[in-house]
Amino acid sequence: MAADRSKFSNKFGFIAAAAGSAVGLGNIWKFPFEVGNGGGSAFLIVYLVFCFVLCYPILVTEIAIGRKSQKSAAMAFKPLGHPRWSIVGILGVFCGVLILSFYNIVAGWVLGYFVEMLLGNFDIGKNFGTYIQDIAEVGGYTIAFLIATTYIVSMGVTKGIEKASKLLMPVLLAIIIILTIYAFTLDGASEGIHFYLVPDFSKLNLNVIYRALGQSFFSLSLGLGAMMTYGSYLSSKENIASAGVYITLADVGIAFLAGLMIFPFVFSQGLTPEGGAGLIFITMPGIFETMGPTLGVVIGSLFFLLLAFAALTSTISLMELPVAYMVDKHKIKRKKAVWYSAGIIFLLGIPSMLGNGYSEYFTSFITYVGAEKPVNFMDFVTDVASNTLLPFGGLMVSIFAIYAWKRQKLFKELSVGNPNFTKTFLSRYIAFSLKYICPPILGIIFIITVLEIFFGVKIL
Ligand code: TRP
Repeated sequence: MAADRSKFSNKFGFIAAAAGSAVGLGNIWKFPFEVGNGGGSAFLIVYLVFCFVLCYPILVTEIAIGRKSQKSAAMAFKPLGHPRWSIVGILGVFCGVLILSFYNIVAGWVLGYFVEMLLGNFDIGKNFGTYIQDIAEVGGYTIAFLIATTYIVSMGVTKGIEKASKLLMPVLLAIIIILTIYAFTLDGASEGIHFYLVPDFSKLNLNVIYRALGQSFFSLSLGLGAMMTYGSYLSSKENIASAGVYITLADVGIAFLAGLMIFPFVFSQGLTPEGGAGLIFITMPGIFETMGPTLGVVIGSLFFLLLAFAALTSTISLMELPVAYMVDKHKIKRKKAVWYSAGIIFLLGIPSMLGNGYSEYFTSFITYVGAEKPVNFMDFVTDVASNTLLPFGGLMVSIFAIYAWKRQKLFKELSVGNPNFTKTFLSRYIAFSLKYICPPILGIIFIITVLEIFFGVKIL
């Protein structure tokens, strides 16, 4: 069975796919508004520290577990001799499906905005609040996006996932660089850069730390086995530790660039950065309008095309989770498994779609103990699945690697394709973080946030 498992064709193919998974709406849509709500650069700094100190070692471990076991997330622990840990992988698959259910809706907004920009309808930004309540329109684009994802995943690892990522990732990088350079030429750019880069640590509180942690895991696609699954398609010739460095740098680099691009835009329009989930959808069309009809249409549609590409290489990695699970575990044919998954994901996404004003119930879905305002369904799923369960999954992966699988075996796998690994600084860094940093930090933040945010217990 293992012998005929598909493989990425080479290191670049793998890095493109894994970086494609990492770089997504998380970097270009979510990151800027989290920075905006989290007080600018204070959030940025905490996010960067989490990415390098906690996430990189976990990323490398996830890839190693996947490659060694030759199995997708939910099935990966058994071949390593620890079947009970499969629960972590299964939780990951569920969590991935939940995340994709709302992610796909935002991707639908992106696709819709791409069309509106092509048509020169810049007023859409002011009408964002009503646009997302237009269920027929948003629903249509969401379905279109889901079909594109499903189609690519149905083509398999090499001809689908790898090919799409190799094509889309370089284009994405080019577009974002062009837009950042343009942003720098605007009046107000320096104010935006100041907000983004000059730290104000008085803004730091538990909530900022909690969200920065969730964001770092979300943005690197960690904590639910997506990277394990991709790792299972990686050849034993490749060097995992260095691939991990490239993936982390690509992800952090693009998030950083996205901030450099957005904040000058926001400030040049005299808007405030605390725009919430609508930040780029509200701000950007206004920017494009000021560029005049022709340039505005070109740059505006380019921007939303960039977002759509970023989203697509991420949705395919999320979709691969349930698909690989069905293929590996239940021996269902890939072509069938993708359509089953798509159906489930679409249905689960309906409450998120309705929760943007259309249905009062899903819009004011839940009020956390002690909070003033209710949050909508999408924010609730983000808090549970992304901000809480992803770091929890990371915690489990670090405990598994050190205490169940053990460091020697992890290092043995990391030395495959990299014979000098144990002599490198990275090996010491990874082992130290997995043992002494990840479990205590992730454990403490998990306990405190669950108690404080969901149960209203005051600890800090
Ligand atoms: N990393 C992606 C983003 O930033 C989202 C994503 C894709 C993801 N695959 C994932 C998040 C797996 C968690 C787990 O947009």
